[in-house]
Amino acid sequence: MDEWKRLRRMFFFLFFGIFISMVVVVKVSFDHTYKIVPQPIRNIHRVSHTCPQEVSDQTITPLRNTKHLLVSAYMDRRVKDFDIRIIGIFKRDSIQPLKCVFCCAGVFPNTTTPATIKEHPDNFGFAFITTFVMCQIPQNCSATHVSLLTKNDSARVPIWLPIRNQKTAGKEEIKTRFNMTVCISNLFEFNNALQYAQTLELYRLLGVDRVVIYNTSCGPDLDHLLQSYSQEGFVEMVPWPIDKHMNPSHGWLFSAHGGDMHYYGQIATLNECLYRYMDQSRYVLLHDIDEIMMPYEHDSLQVLLDALQEQLPKVGVFQVENHIYPKKPFEESKKGPLPEWRGVPGFNILEHVYKWDRLSGFLAYKLIVQPRMVVQTSVHYITETKAEQFLIPHELGHLIHCPVSTPYVKPLKDIQVDTRLWDFNDKLIPNVNQVLRRLGLLRLERQS
Ligand SMILES: *[C@@H]1O[C@H](CO)[C@@H](O)[C@H](O)[C@H]1NC(C)=O
Ligand SMILES: *[C@@H]1O[C@H](CO)[C@@H](O)[C@H](O)[C@H]1NC(C)=O
Ligand SMILES: *[C@@H]1O[C@H](CO)[C@@H](O)[C@H](O)[C@H]1NC(C)=O
Ligand SMILES: *[C@@H]1O[C@H](CO)[C@@H](O)[C@H](O)[C@H]1NC(C)=O
Ligand SMILES: *[C@@H]1O[C@H](CO)[C@@H](O)[C@H](O)[C@H]1NC(C)=O
Repeated sequence: MDEWKRLRRMFFFLFFGIFISMVVVVKVSFDHTYKIVPQPIRNIHRVSHTCPQEVSDQTITPLRNTKHLLVSAYMDRRVKDFDIRIIGIFKRDSIQPLKCVFCCAGVFPNTTTPATIKEHPDNFGFAFITTFVMCQIPQNCSATHVSLLTKNDSARVPIWLPIRNQKTAGKEEIKTRFNMTVCISNLFEFNNALQYAQTLELYRLLGVDRVVIYNTSCGPDLDHLLQSYSQEGFVEMVPWPIDKHMNPSHGWLFSAHGGDMHYYGQIATLNECLYRYMDQSRYVLLHDIDEIMMPYEHDSLQVLLDALQEQLPKVGVFQVENHIYPKKPFEESKKGPLPEWRGVPGFNILEHVYKWDRLSGFLAYKLIVQPRMVVQTSVHYITETKAEQFLIPHELGHLIHCPVSTPYVKPLKDIQVDTRLWDFNDKLIPNVNQVLRRLGLLRLERQS
């Protein structure tokens, strides 16, 4: 009996020991900024053929020996002779020839392929620009990771980017998890929790099932709100620490706003989002948080798009007119029976029911796209696609862009009142209140 107990105890300790060492190994390999897996040192020959195990888990990774930054790598076989598209942020005056290196299922082959570097056409005069680096995978390599080397980089120790969207390699139909994904290209500095809560809840009512937010920084209340949406799974927060690598511009034009890159790298994040959701979402909506794509004859965007797509099966890009709703005028009497939300930081979008005009020129539109039909995008137009494009008539739907500061205030009689947002009040107000209350953001209510 005692013998049996001792044996059992021995087994127990053995198991416990194995378990602990497994936990330690797993923890060590996940704890680092860059995951570092110790290389086997028994067999020198094998070492030279094993991939150096430095894999970036950052959204922005400096490329060694250059002034450039790498963002992410995706399988993309839509451009002839290429397999992989790397999204990067390159310094325009220092672009040099590069070569693509691969990790082929753990094996580090002694071959590279030339990299083809394409700059995004919109640089707006800034020093840094969004780039697409196209690579061909060498023969007999089932590539899992990719990186870039300068022509005379003899060290050959790249920081790997994992290759995503591996499924896109085949031609098979992909079952998407989401129908509608909104990409919010940049969040920095704001703390407008009320506007975010209202807008996110409204998106949900309109049929959006995922919102992606590229986050550089935000205020404490908004952080609290977004942590909650992200835990729930409605929002995906993508860290976007671009300010750690350069001085990003607050504006869109270098000559007017200065800085190193257009609007916190907006073009890079929009394209990143497009590829990130290519296999996951039927439609991707490219607009800002202060904009709502509003259907005017249907209850949801989903229904509107289904109706349009039935008549226009070849369309892969929908342009949506951008209509602006200024901060002023604002008339108390027109406000209607809205809650006050006093003490909640941010704008109340429901108060802005005066429509000024539509934007014109190159700012005129924002976009809804079928991501697999688009190769690259800018903010207001698509820069590469083979898909047909269609402008949604504004009676069917347009952007409610609010609140916007306008150069002057128009008299009330010249301004159209548009209370379309209020059609959603019955569901929207209770939903917003529920979120704010749960997070303790309804401060005045809490005090009384
Ligand atoms: C890799 O290729 C280069 C040139 O093709 C050659 O000089 C070198 O010896 C090769 N290295 C190994 C480890 O095979
Ligand atoms: C690829 O693999 C095939 C079959 O194993 C072999 O015949 C061929 O020579 C290989 N090609 C290269 C470039 O290594
Ligand atoms: C690469 O090599 C060339 C020729 O040897 C040299 O002129 C150039 O400065 C090198 N570039 C870098 C970045 O070291
Ligand atoms: C997506 O849309 C289709 C057809 O409109 C619908 O059947 C499906 O339930 C929707 N999926 C999600 C996740 O909402
Ligand atoms: C946004 O980024 C900032 C700065 O890294 C971070 O402190 C904050 O927690 C992030 N918020 C969310 C919701 O991810």
